[in-house]
Amino acid sequence: MAKKLMVFTDCHIPVMNPVAIEIFKKTVSHIKPDISVSLGDLLDCGQFSQHPPTFGVPETDYEGDLRLANELIDYVQANTSERTILIEGNHEYRLDRWAAQHTEGRGAYNMLAPRIQLMKNRKRCTYIPYGSTDGRYPHYKINSRIIAVHGWSYAVNADRRHLQMSQGRSVLFGHTHRLSLVCHQSIYGGDTIRAVNCGCLCNPVPLYGTGRPVEWTNGFLIGYLGRHSDTLFPVDIKGNFAILPDGFGIVA
Ligand SMILES: [Fe+2]
Repeated sequence: MAKKLMVFTDCHIPVMNPVAIEIFKKTVSHIKPDISVSLGDLLDCGQFSQHPPTFGVPETDYEGDLRLANELIDYVQANTSERTILIEGNHEYRLDRWAAQHTEGRGAYNMLAPRIQLMKNRKRCTYIPYGSTDGRYPHYKINSRIIAVHGWSYAVNADRRHLQMSQGRSVLFGHTHRLSLVCHQSIYGGDTIRAVNCGCLCNPVPLYGTGRPVEWTNGFLIGYLGRHSDTLFPVDIKGNFAILPDGFGIVA
């Protein structure tokens, strides 16, 4: 029997899309995955941004945002049998940069850092930090064929760039908030190799910028991991419902 995989990314709490999050949570309790992976930017960490606040973005306190993020991970873990992986995004990494620049930040680091505060008392959970000081590129190896990263590129052709950079492995990535998939054959035979971004769980209408439409889409990914081969299904959320690969409909 193939193992079940759930992947989600870019919630950007507190600017998450509550309807998309509800559909995602109902899906997790329906699928009961063996492995769940958050690809990062679970928290927006706007309180630690270099940029001025964006008009219209709710001014929440960071502790409240952390609590919401922890509640979501609690829910995912309660429905995931084997292991949960939290990959850090550039938004959580904001806090590391802020702490490095401010004396009070260094003092408060342990009380604030997502890599500490999201991992408290968790079992069967792995955290992959965003930065790297050891010369290796942070990633999580889901199995021998698939890796997961927050995102190495925001380019228009980000999927192709990820596929090039992942050097022969399939890669699941987030960061661009755009549903996209590119696939090519493996010269070794067997599985095709693909880069997949399943879209985001944040509000798909960004409040920064000029109010023009963007390509962001809400969604998540369900995968089936076999011994020698895998199938990966990006699932897009259509307003307040989604149709899963097993035909089951989820309504918010
Ligand atoms: Fe990101």
